Amino acid sequence: MPGYEKITPPKGGKIKFENGQLKVPDNPIIPFIWGDGTGQDISPAAIKVFDAAVEKAYGGKRKVSWFKVYAGDEAIAHYYGAMTKEQIEALDPAEQRRLYMPDDTLQAVKDHLVAIKGPLTTPVGKGIRSLNVFLRQELDLYACVRPVRWFHGVPNPVKNPEKLNVIIFRENTEDVYAGIEYEQGTPEERKVWEFLTKEMKAVIREDSGIGIKPMSITGTTRIVKAAINYALKYGKTSVTIMHKGNIMKFTEGAFRKWGYEAAKTFGDKVITEEEVNAKFGGKVPEGKILIKDRIADSMFQQVLLRPEEYSIVVTPNLNGDYISDACAAQVGGLGIAPGANINYTNGIAMFEATHGTAPKYAGQDKVNPGSLILSGSMMFEYMGWTEVPKIIEEALERTIQAKTVTYDMERLITGAKLLSCSQFASAIVANMGKPPIRAVQGLAPAVKVAKDVAKGAIKVGKTVATKAIAKAKDKDFQAKAKGVAKKAGKVAMKGAKKVGKVAAKGAKKAGKAAARQIKKRVKK
Ligand SMILES: NC(=O)c1ccc[n+]([C@@H]2O[C@H](COP(=O)([O-])OP(=O)(O)OC[C@H]3O[C@@H](n4cnc5c(N)ncnc54)[C@H](O)[C@@H]3O)[C@@H](O)[C@H]2O)c1
Repeated sequence: MPGYEKITPPKGGKIKFENGQLKVPDNPIIPFIWGDGTGQDISPAAIKVFDAAVEKAYGGKRKVSWFKVYAGDEAIAHYYGAMTKEQIEALDPAEQRRLYMPDDTLQAVKDHLVAIKGPLTTPVGKGIRSLNVFLRQELDLYACVRPVRWFHGVPNPVKNPEKLNVIIFRENTEDVYAGIEYEQGTPEERKVWEFLTKEMKAVIREDSGIGIKPMSITGTTRIVKAAINYALKYGKTSVTIMHKGNIMKFTEGAFRKWGYEAAKTFGDKVITEEEVNAKFGGKVPEGKILIKDRIADSMFQQVLLRPEEYSIVVTPNLNGDYISDACAAQVGGLGIAPGANINYTNGIAMFEATHGTAPKYAGQDKVNPGSLILSGSMMFEYMGWTEVPKIIEEALERTIQAKTVTYDMERLITGAKLLSCSQFASAIVANMGKPPIRAVQGLAPAVKVAKDVAKGAIKVGKTVATKAIAKAKDKDFQAKAKGVAKKAGKVAMKGAKKVGKVAAKGAKKAGKAAARQIKKRVKK
């Protein structure tokens, strides 16, 4: 066991990575960075939900040992409480980073492989760019995985939010995020400008800042392979390479080219859109994963206009940043969008809330813990504890459908009840194991149609009878007609009731089928 300076792991087992597979003990130690600002509110709420779901799934046979590790403001307080802000800001960037992201924390994550974190403030002042970006680069967490799907009941801005169900694989270490930038007017920028304009004959305005966008075969191949492996593991139907290769030919265009080359290594498990059109009349052969590509701007239209045609999207860093937030907004916003940063080659993975620290709500027990909770759900899936995400996600969905939500959703749902962050977590726990409301709700409109049909039939029967009575002139006939009409009315009534029952049965069936479809979609 490596030594840590100021943290002690709790009792438990270590997750290992052997032959490309995670080996998870029944009592794994998982490092947890609570985070800054509202991270301090959502982290305990999420832990409550995680522990309850694990208990529900395994009845005490499995349990997580949470290992509190420090980053951001908490790290300063825990390790360097005596230092002032001015003293910290006077340090060089590498030293500052050490204070905010101690070596202990990095080591703990490396040692235990799977970790989870709340949001971290990017400290203001010169020096550290972003602790999150640092963490991803330092641990080489090359795949940012962002599943985006709609949860029933979540307010959203589109007609059919359920049609979008994608997993975005964003390359996490290259592209303009590499941090190679030269500020206008500095000696470094002048040097780069001189080289580019004089040696390379590039045309660049003299008063420019300059940034570099590196993208490699290595970086592209591993992210595209990760996306296709995921598609294979979870039975997904397509992988779309999103790029801006028509303009940036040797970076984004190369991403597309290398992406297709990486796909080729999967042999007959995959098929390209070009092959499907040329050889199979546009129909993807059974069991093959379709590999296609879309230009970035078109992709933004596609997720709105034809969302059902996309299953996995793999893309460079900057596109990935944009498209994942846009997709999250489409299904109801960042409050509950989960994320993970994973190195599939060595198993190290950091699951994290995708939103920031929301400082104005810090310490108020107010914000939505959904993003961190669903990131944890992804974590359990990654660990192979697959019963846990099902319990968490169904309970979360049920809680939202019951309109018992935090302020961000409460203001958008008519008749909703406002819960605090911790109350929302408790409500999720209370809803664990209860049947999902959506199947019952799916049935309600069908039953209504059946009732309307029955009512309509009764009305027709009555009208026919009344008309017959009015038409009959002589009294006898009228009396007879009355009897006939009464009978007819009764028969019509019976018929209508029967029709109603049959319709109700049919509607019930349709409702169940719809519920099954929804379940399938959710699986997809
Ligand atoms: N992954 C991360 O750690 C991460 C991500 C983004 C921003 N940040 C940092 O967070 C700080 C604040 O950034 P910001 O204000 O741009 O973004 P933010 O995500 O903190 O806030 C944006 C908006 O979303 C709302 N919001 C955020 N989390 C919410 C939640 N859980 N429930 C309900 N509403 C929520 C906020 O109130 C605000 O209106 C900055 O220091 C930034 O660097 C960190």
